[in-house]
Amino acid sequence: MRTKDKSVNKKRVTRDERQETINILGIETSCDETAAAVVTNGSIIKSSVVASQDKLHAKYGGVVPEIASRAHLENICTIITEALEKAKVNRQTIDAVAVANQPGLTVALIVGVTAAKTLAFAWEKPLLAIDHLHAHLQSASLSEKTVQLPAVALIVSGGHTCLFDYKSPLQPKLLGTTIDDAAGEAFDKVATILHLPYPGGPRIEKIAKKGNPKAVDFPRSMLGPNSLDFSFSGLKTAVLYHCRGQDMKGENKVESMTGKQIADIAASFQAAVIDVLVEKTRRAAAKIGAKTVLLGGGVAANNRLRETLRQMCDSSQPPKKLLVAPKEYCTDNAVMVASLAYHKYKAGLFADLTLEPKANSI
Ligand code: KG4
Ligand code: ZN
Repeated sequence: MRTKDKSVNKKRVTRDERQETINILGIETSCDETAAAVVTNGSIIKSSVVASQDKLHAKYGGVVPEIASRAHLENICTIITEALEKAKVNRQTIDAVAVANQPGLTVALIVGVTAAKTLAFAWEKPLLAIDHLHAHLQSASLSEKTVQLPAVALIVSGGHTCLFDYKSPLQPKLLGTTIDDAAGEAFDKVATILHLPYPGGPRIEKIAKKGNPKAVDFPRSMLGPNSLDFSFSGLKTAVLYHCRGQDMKGENKVESMTGKQIADIAASFQAAVIDVLVEKTRRAAAKIGAKTVLLGGGVAANNRLRETLRQMCDSSQPPKKLLVAPKEYCTDNAVMVASLAYHKYKAGLFADLTLEPKANSI
């Protein structure tokens, strides 16, 4: 069944537009975080509740879709109730229900989508369908009333690595994406090689602080001088070969490595990922003459990435304004969903009860 944004509720919007406050309940279940939030007028955060499933997936070194789905099912009602209670709102004072319905794990998305449709139906409120990637982008501009254009946005997460021409919150245009692994996925896989627990990004960042980023010369795959796409699988393989030998027949040397050696690998790997991310963002910014750079997604929590991107923005001629998502809203959350939904609400872009989850959006 196809799902379309519809403007069938235009009449209701006109009435609501006269209201001073629009409270939107946002729901997020695209991967391994069950989240709900209430945001007023797109930027006033009334509540944000996130149940992380990290511990459930840790022993598998990555997210297991069926386990994620089951955990969402177990948590969703409690999380939504908590978000409503913390925000001190109820069915009367909520104006719309928003949900991330794409992209993500279908078996995970369906839990949030079903909850949102049920509430919208029972409470007789408009339903808003949100693209998870566009929501990550929104978290970078949470504190801004307007983003100075042209603007380029880098979204780096466990499932995606994308560059957008940020034309508006609702219409970012894709400029480049990964042709294989996402940056966060590379962090998670390299962490597994280094015997570090899932999620790998924060662990690698911590260990890398004690390492030398120049210790191992890992490859930076630029895919040609003008490409805005990304590739991280070669880098991941290079780390694997470094630890297991080219023929993969040798013992995994990680067990016998010192803490400093592991820290050097982590720091060198992290530096290689960041060099590529920052160079591609620089290219994209130059291409569209960007005045602003936005950064969001789980990997955006990485301090080294935040600092290196800031240096690039500051040293550009003319310098660019950098908007970075607050750390608590880098990884998956529902504030970004409810915040972006406000723009859809104002534009009258409502979904209907045929809404379905979609694995891909781009
Ligand atoms: O955005 P997110 O919560 O979920 C997806 O939409 O995929 O991103 C999760 C990803 C994981 O791969 C995790 O390892 C990575 O973000 N991550 C980090 C850091 N914190 C989370 N990567 C590098 N450095 C970090 N500090
Ligand atoms: Zn995400």
